[in-house]
Amino acid sequence: MSIHDKLKKLEDLRRESEQGGGEKRLAAQHARGKLSARERIDLLVDEGSFVELDRFVTHRSTDFGLDDQKILGDGVVTGYATVHGRLVYLFSQDFTVFGGSLSEAHAEKIVKLQELALKNGAPIVGLNDSGGARIQEGVVSLGGYADIFLRNTLASGVVPQISVVLGPCAGGAVYSPAITDFIYMVRGTSYMFVTGPNVVKTVTHEDIDMEGLGGADVHASKSGVAHFACDSEAECLASVRELFHFIPQNNTELPPSRGTDDPHDRQDERLLEVVPDNPNRPYDMRDVITHVVDEGSFYEVHRQFAANILVGFAHLGGHAVGIVANQPAVLAGVLDIDASDKGARFVRFCDAFNIPLVVFEDVPGFLPGVAQEHGGIIRHGAKLLFAFSEATVPKVTLITRKAYGGAYDVMNSKHVRGDVNLAWPQAEIAVMGPKGAVEILFRKEIAESESPEAATETRIQEYRDLLAHPYIAASRGYVDDVIDPRETRPRLISALDMLRNKRDENPRKKHGNMPL
Ligand code: HXC
Repeated sequence: MSIHDKLKKLEDLRRESEQGGGEKRLAAQHARGKLSARERIDLLVDEGSFVELDRFVTHRSTDFGLDDQKILGDGVVTGYATVHGRLVYLFSQDFTVFGGSLSEAHAEKIVKLQELALKNGAPIVGLNDSGGARIQEGVVSLGGYADIFLRNTLASGVVPQISVVLGPCAGGAVYSPAITDFIYMVRGTSYMFVTGPNVVKTVTHEDIDMEGLGGADVHASKSGVAHFACDSEAECLASVRELFHFIPQNNTELPPSRGTDDPHDRQDERLLEVVPDNPNRPYDMRDVITHVVDEGSFYEVHRQFAANILVGFAHLGGHAVGIVANQPAVLAGVLDIDASDKGARFVRFCDAFNIPLVVFEDVPGFLPGVAQEHGGIIRHGAKLLFAFSEATVPKVTLITRKAYGGAYDVMNSKHVRGDVNLAWPQAEIAVMGPKGAVEILFRKEIAESESPEAATETRIQEYRDLLAHPYIAASRGYVDDVIDPRETRPRLISALDMLRNKRDENPRKKHGNMPL
């Protein structure tokens, strides 16, 4: 055989490997509104940058007539590419090949990528579309999943791991995305559940369809499993590309900075108007964030889940930052179980990957109630406290209004190693709000008063004047300065510039014992 014949054979094999499960199955995939494994890669990575690995790998099963059904690549396309010019590893499961199910060989391809990502310090993106463990391979397939889970765990906190669920992801298979840092889903076509609607019906007699049980909106708003729910695959993959503007390649690198035309010293008059004069009126903390960050651009994470806290990424004077903010527009910005979990997970991602934290604080306290107490608000709230306390990245806090009770301590206070803590003049920093305090301190006096309402008002005003302001905290150095709201952007940027080379350490330990 001449080299030309051999090249022809190579060309034919390459073409064959790109056919996946064939035209009919590809048409069915498209008819469902889903893209092929390769079309998805094209949308995700920089044009022409994808280099495929292991395209000749096939499964090794002989049972159920599988020995004459070998498809090149075995249902997963793997390789590396660039996103915004930076290296990324990725795998994309091909539902047209045995339903994207995971065989021993399929698992080995993913494991190879995970090891490359770990060795070379680059993020890994998994595009999941799979019927789960390859049924014909039995326990070997389960072993393949465990091999992946182990490497997901070892890579956690070393390289960013991103899961995009673009089809079924069921049974134990959900635990690979679950261990990764961010999960993206698409409405109408992505599903994640441990047991599907049929098993649920048999066991609990509940009637529910796939979307209702484990669709994108359910996981993005109720369970909190997914961080993003998108309307289409194209939107979803564009959103993943956007995330790469904020995250570093690995835990030894800094996140990418981004040049900006937004002046660092920009003062914003609108910040004087955001917080209402009446301290009991809500406002949208997003308005504060977008008036302050570069170009008003806030990449919100977990938007639909626990909306009483906001988390997400932005740039401030070019620095990529992670933002954690109480949201007074929802439940008055109170901390509850879900908000604590959401905040804690995000803080730990940022800390693991050297992304400075900026906290916008307006928190009346923890949510009271039997459901919260019995649900373990003590345990969950402790996660957020733990996460802020152990974080060693630059940590900046701005108190826009309320900072009451234990929540004051939790939300990146000076006492848990906040580096620069600022307050607006409207800040109220105290053990509790004026009404609650007065009712406890002066209950008897108010009850005996001729006009209880007037007596309460007088005492509330006295409490406000004496305690519910930022100047006691400032006199102790618990806040470093009380600032004019218009100066917020320059002051935050200056703090981040000043903290650029921050070094801090925790005591040597195997790992802490966060109350999970
Ligand atoms: C082998 C599979 C497969 C699987 C699907 N296929 N799932 N082959 N192993 N797990 C094949 C089908 O035989 C079919 O082949 C093709 O993929 C498409 O499947 P359809 O059923 O025709 O597609 P659809 O109607 O869209 O249904 C998709 C589905 C369904 C909902 C995913 O296929 C399904 O329920 N599959 C089984 C899911 C499951 O229970 N997996 C195990 C979960 S437990 P042809 O040749 O007809 O195209 C698990 C444990 C993980 O994964 C281990 C962790 C510890």
